[in-house]
Amino acid sequence: MEPVIIGDKLYEGKAKAVYATGDPDVRVIKYKDSATAGNGARKAEIAGKGELNRRICSKIFTMLNNAGIPTHFIRDLGEDGQLVKKCAIIPLEVIVRNVAAGSFSARFGVPEGAALSRPTLEYCYKDDALGDPMINDYHIKALGLASDGELAETARLSFEINELLSAYFRKAGLRLVDFKLEFGRTPDGIALADEISPDTCRLWDMETNAKLDKDVFRRGLGDLAGAYAEVLRRISG
Ligand code: TMP
Repeated sequence: MEPVIIGDKLYEGKAKAVYATGDPDVRVIKYKDSATAGNGARKAEIAGKGELNRRICSKIFTMLNNAGIPTHFIRDLGEDGQLVKKCAIIPLEVIVRNVAAGSFSARFGVPEGAALSRPTLEYCYKDDALGDPMINDYHIKALGLASDGELAETARLSFEINELLSAYFRKAGLRLVDFKLEFGRTPDGIALADEISPDTCRLWDMETNAKLDKDVFRRGLGDLAGAYAEVLRRISG
């Protein structure tokens, strides 16, 4: 395999940075050790978090690629990051839920842990200055953020990804409570982009309901890197 030339930093977010490569259609993503909560209001550096998220995310995207889901992921580069296809991110967070928790519980007064009779899907508009507000299909189309066809495709893929991920984590003794996805436009159509990791999923131990995700940081429950290492250990087993 040809060595990857890592060029200029094109973008830096709260948990990742994106770099150019020698190929204009390919990018490198590097994961940072920063953890944030409350839209950046609380911040910490957690040694090892970036590497754990990269390794967990690369395993998940490899599984999804093998299952036929279109994703941006090309391959893991070890400590250099992840090689991905360039795509134009649709500015929406697509949140899928299987069990009530977090903002769903707060908004609808449903206790955390209550099973939902069917998976749900909701959108947030990706805009830090606005605090990523929830947005509906009509708003999305009125603002020209995505077309009918793109929304139908992202919803279809999101529920399919939910089935694949839920089964994947179930085998590791983990309940997939909810998660956030982002999609991008590529010359070949919509592809899953961004990351899937314990930063973007709620994962509870199947037996004890212990939290093994970013809520450990958000809620000050203890050792975040230890929880992420446990997720990696279980999906590697
Ligand atoms: P919520 O209950 O706070 O709305 O979060 C639902 C899921 O989406 C949870 O697994 C965390 C994830 N998420 C992100 O990854 N990024 C975000 O900006 C938000 C709001 C949620």
